[in-house]
Amino acid sequence: MLSAQNIFAGYGKLRILNGVSINAENGEITVIVGPNGSGKSTLLKTIAGLTTLYEGSVLLDGKEISRLPPHEIAKTGLAYLPQTDSVFTQLTVAENIKMAAYTVPSNEYEPRLKSSLAMFPVLSSYMKTKVQNLSGGERQMVAMTMALMRNPKVIMLDEPTANLSPKLATEVLKTASSLAKDKGMAVILVEQNARRALEIGDKAYLLVSGKKVFEGSAQELLAHEELARMYLGLKAA
Ligand SMILES: Nc1ncnc2c1ncn2[C@@H]1O[C@H](COP(=O)(O)OP(=O)(O)OP(=O)(O)O)[C@@H](O)[C@H]1O
Ligand SMILES: [Mg+2]
Repeated sequence: MLSAQNIFAGYGKLRILNGVSINAENGEITVIVGPNGSGKSTLLKTIAGLTTLYEGSVLLDGKEISRLPPHEIAKTGLAYLPQTDSVFTQLTVAENIKMAAYTVPSNEYEPRLKSSLAMFPVLSSYMKTKVQNLSGGERQMVAMTMALMRNPKVIMLDEPTANLSPKLATEVLKTASSLAKDKGMAVILVEQNARRALEIGDKAYLLVSGKKVFEGSAQELLAHEELARMYLGLKAA
């Protein structure tokens, strides 16, 4: 389980998060929603060790991982897919995957590749294709495969369905579900499409201006007329 406790963080002197706490359980999808600029990406970056942490701590299975360098945090079993492109477009799919998996023991490489690709069978035929020739959705699948190669305990996805067709978006969200439900990972999902994310989510957090204004079940937030209308662009279901 991943637990971020009382996080105050930002960029240098620019403070963004003010005392945010979240818990993400194994086997569950934890959804983080909120308006643009509310600090969702900053929270994920902070957990990954990529911001300035002023106060608070991040625990993975009870062990403190905050203040480790990002590459050490990655080794603890935490995978992070940033909001912006996380693939090398000049390289092929196979090369990207290989780079992401450089710490994987060679005897485990093939089995892991097989099980990671099982999530996205379509990629198998693109292994020798340069990523720049793939669609946005296919690139997102490559990025997820790269994360899965490291067999993470926790996977953080920052708007994985942005710019995807509804069909591909559904596929990516299905995969996120299956990582939690079938593989038992703790999935932390930041989504701009709040409704779809909350529909598949277990727990939900709403951030506004760097503060947590709601914590509860995803269903509860979906059904919360006032918050859903004010912050999520949702009409009450
Ligand atoms: N690298 C950075 N340096 C300085 N300020 C930043 C940096 N990245 C983000 N910010 C600022 O931090 C605030 C929170 O941004 P963040 O990206 O966390 O929001 P977000 O909730 O993910 O928004 P969106 O829904 O648009 O992705 C914003 O005011 C943004 O301008
Ligand atoms: Mg963001």
